[in-house]
Amino acid sequence: MNVVLVGGSGFIGTYLCEELLDRGHDVTVLSRSPGGDVPAGAETAMGDVTAYDSIESAFEGQDVVYNLVALSPLFEPKGGNEMHDRLHRRGTENCLRAAEEHGVERFVQLSALGADPEGPTHYIRAKGRAEGHVRDSDLDWTIFRPSVVFGDGGEFLSFTRKLTPPGVAPLPGGGKTRFQPIYVEDLVDMLADSIESETHVGETYEIGGPEQLELATVARLVRAARGQSVKIVSVPMSLAEVGLRVAGAIPGFPMGPDQYRSLQFDNTTSENDISAFGLETDDLTTLSSYLGVE
Ligand SMILES: NC(=O)c1ccc[n+]([C@@H]2O[C@H](COP(=O)([O-])OP(=O)(O)OC[C@H]3O[C@@H](n4cnc5c(N)ncnc54)[C@H](OP(=O)(O)O)[C@@H]3O)[C@@H](O)[C@H]2O)c1
Repeated sequence: MNVVLVGGSGFIGTYLCEELLDRGHDVTVLSRSPGGDVPAGAETAMGDVTAYDSIESAFEGQDVVYNLVALSPLFEPKGGNEMHDRLHRRGTENCLRAAEEHGVERFVQLSALGADPEGPTHYIRAKGRAEGHVRDSDLDWTIFRPSVVFGDGGEFLSFTRKLTPPGVAPLPGGGKTRFQPIYVEDLVDMLADSIESETHVGETYEIGGPEQLELATVARLVRAARGQSVKIVSVPMSLAEVGLRVAGAIPGFPMGPDQYRSLQFDNTTSENDISAFGLETDDLTTLSSYLGVE
């Protein structure tokens, strides 16, 4: 099939591009600056999802669209939090319009666990509203809502390292917030499978890894992988909010108010939908095995 990966030059997109090429698909990577990391064998197209005219021609002749465009929720966006709505919601609208106008029927949307139009952060709200546009479209859509994704090139583990240096590290609520990290290659297999069967059309999948881990545990694992240790001390959520509101104004500090808010909610699946792809948790890569700290 002819497949366009919008935002395909990023972390997940690069793995997905390789997987789709391996499976014999013709892949076009569309982003603002698809550069050197795009796997050999893929076509590239330059466009910005916030500007419809810059992307629509890349949809001509395609059978499938994956929308992988991202603005990281882990850091405060340079252009302000409204950027999440611009990129994730309005960018999705532009992709849907381009798909409909060019007769591309299959649309796969990378959303995020907890996506909710009324959710607590700009990212989560924009993701939730984007999902609404996808469901309202006439396309054959599938929505994926992964928890945090790890693997070479991902930012979840480097973010955790930045947040919790070796020694003593304060975390809001003692780092009790739980995540369900999924290995990028496991996720990408499911993303690639999803276009090979009609059974996935009209489905929204919550996808998590094999374990639910507290942030404090993730911090200890990433430090152990470097032969280091970290002692997590608890900062009350209320104090952390004040501290992080101030810290968010300091360049280089990774968190602002939205990042603090996102630490108040677990990022775990209610039912892990990996079963829709014939998988069980034992089939998935654990964070500790990836880090080599069994
Ligand atoms: N990584 C995770 O842990 C995680 C967890 C849950 C959900 N997700 C979702 O999975 C998807 C992929 O995430 P990722 O981690 O691979 O993101 P990423 O590494 O940040 O890649 C983002 C991609 O979007 C492109 N992009 C950004 N702004 C654009 C614009 N205005 N127009 C066109 N392209 C644009 C970037 O390329 P250019 O800069 O060249 O434009 C890049 O190809 C996203 O929808 C994300 O929300 C990720």
